[in-house]
Amino acid sequence: FVDPDFSATVIRWQKQHGRHGLPWQQSRDAYRVWLSEIMLQQTQVSAVIPYYQKFLQSFPTVSDLAAAPAEAVMAHWSGLGYYTRARNLHQCAKQVVEKYQGQFPADQTLLEQLPGIGRSTAAAITAFSYGTVAAILDGNVKRVFARVFGIAGYPGSKVIEDSMWQRALALLPDEGIESYTQGLMDLGATLCTRSSPACGRCPLQARCVAFAEGRTAELPTRKPK
Ligand code: ADE
Ligand code: SF4
Repeated sequence: FVDPDFSATVIRWQKQHGRHGLPWQQSRDAYRVWLSEIMLQQTQVSAVIPYYQKFLQSFPTVSDLAAAPAEAVMAHWSGLGYYTRARNLHQCAKQVVEKYQGQFPADQTLLEQLPGIGRSTAAAITAFSYGTVAAILDGNVKRVFARVFGIAGYPGSKVIEDSMWQRALALLPDEGIESYTQGLMDLGATLCTRSSPACGRCPLQARCVAFAEGRTAELPTRKPK
């Protein structure tokens, strides 16, 4: 059974209460979308914004980034942490220039073969850049799904992750994929937070198993020791 109103609820909420006017929302340019998604993988929006802007000033296109010395790229990343991301970013830019003439492919499978781009990031890039109906599943979305649908079990395990991907695919809207994708990210980051979810303001409260059963503190299930 798939809740037919889930995506419509997320889309409506995103339009009214989600985050708007973030620098990377001003453009559908796949290079800009990709750069923002890599920076946002392990870093909060407020920390990413100044880095994102300086990065684009110095490397306005993927060709500029590919041609830059590794030291310059690392210098621009310095302070953001998780430096493997920066090395992958540079390698990815070089491959996009060499293999794809500087155009990010619109094909998810091809995107996933590039350094630093996993299944969820590939989906976010195609949804935001090309309007492709594709499913994301990052840590924030896993938390929302675990709670709303009452899914126990560590979300990093293969079985749980597979079942969440199935659900993510089944819930996709026919229209409004940009608002839906951004809405899921915004819900997880701003309302359905790890330690103190704001259920009182949540558009999913009426259908949320964790809320109904008082289990928000135990879902998602923590990593087994
Ligand atoms: N986290 C990952 N992608 C994001 C995006 N596009 N906007 C806000 N937070 C994000
Ligand atoms: Fe998360 Fe609370 Fe909303 Fe459920 S009702 S999705 S626990 S914020």
